[in-house]
Amino acid sequence: MSWLTDRLTRLLAEGGLTVEVVARQLAIERSRLANIVAGAAVPNESLTRRIARLFGEDADEWLNHIHKRADETPAAARPPTDFTKVAKVAEVPEGAMRIVFEGLAVIARVEGQLHAFGNACPHAGGALGEGLLKGCVVKCPWHAGRWDVTTGKALTLLETAAIPIFDVRVVGDDIEIRLEDGVVAAPASAPPNLQKTPG
Ligand code: FES
Repeated sequence: MSWLTDRLTRLLAEGGLTVEVVARQLAIERSRLANIVAGAAVPNESLTRRIARLFGEDADEWLNHIHKRADETPAAARPPTDFTKVAKVAEVPEGAMRIVFEGLAVIARVEGQLHAFGNACPHAGGALGEGLLKGCVVKCPWHAGRWDVTTGKALTLLETAAIPIFDVRVVGDDIEIRLEDGVVAAPASAPPNLQKTPG
C-alpha cells in the first residue's frame, strides 16, 4: 500500500467520511478521488495541496512523500510522457479496439481514424478495451456505461467523468501514443458490488 493510500484511508476512517463526500468538497469527480485513494492515480501538485489542506495536514510533507514514491518507482513502470510505439497499424482494423501499454490504454479505429483513450472506466474501473465498440461509442463491459472515444465525453448518466484521450500518430507501420502522466489509471481486476446492467 502506498503512503498516500495509507494516509487517505486512515483520514477518511477517522473522520467518518466517504470518498463521495470528500470529492464533493474538493469539487472533483468521485471516481477520480477513488482512483487516488486506491493508488491507481497520482494527484498533481495542486490537487495534492488541496487534499492535504482539506484534512488540515502539511501539504509540503504530502508532496515530499508522493514525489519520493514517484522517484523510487522504476522508470519502466512509469507511463512515459513522450510518444511510444504500442502496436502495428495492421493490428487495429476498422471498428476494432486493442488494449495496449500494459493495459493502461486502448487504441480504436473509427471511420479510418485511430483514437487512443484510457482503459480504466471512470465509473468503477472496468476495462473499456474489453467492452463493445459501436461507431465511436465504447460500452463498458461491467455496467454498460458509454463514452465517445473521439472526445472522451460520457454519454450516460451512470458516470459524468470523461475518459482521458491521448495523442496518437502513425509512424511507418507503427502506432504511437503519448500518455499524459498522472491521468492514467489501471483497470480494476473485478467489478465492485454493484448491480450489473444487462445488455
Ligand atoms: S465499471 Fe464501467 S460502467 Fe461500471
